[in-house]
Amino acid sequence: MTYVVTEACIQCKYTDCVTVCPMDCFFEGPNFLVIHPDECIDCSICVAECPVEAIVSDQDVTPEQQVYVELNRSLSAHPAWKRLTEQKAPLPDHEHWASQPDQLALLKKD
Ligand code: SF4
Ligand code: F3S
Repeated sequence: MTYVVTEACIQCKYTDCVTVCPMDCFFEGPNFLVIHPDECIDCSICVAECPVEAIVSDQDVTPEQQVYVELNRSLSAHPAWKRLTEQKAPLPDHEHWASQPDQLALLKKD
């Protein structure tokens, strides 16, 4: 079991989540964060911190969001993605993107 960052984070990156994680297991890309599944201890503290409810247990991922389980694993090992432990400003258009569906095509991997 692990927790997974899903689509709502894309183009937002509020980063409230990283401030509470006891394992510092969030990794940052250009417009998305992921959780390293082998480092996450399933404490669930980060879930309530995300303003757009992007973080869910891998047990509760909907069929539409299932692709994010593998994306969290692969992108947390991506050489261009770095561990993020301190909060930073969200992306400029976060208010617009927070409510947009179907953002997978916008995900930047490097
Ligand atoms: Fe970190 Fe806990 Fe969230 Fe896993 S569930 S990413 S260990 S805060
Ligand atoms: Fe993303 Fe939510 Fe964290 S928008 S950066 S998962 S607080």
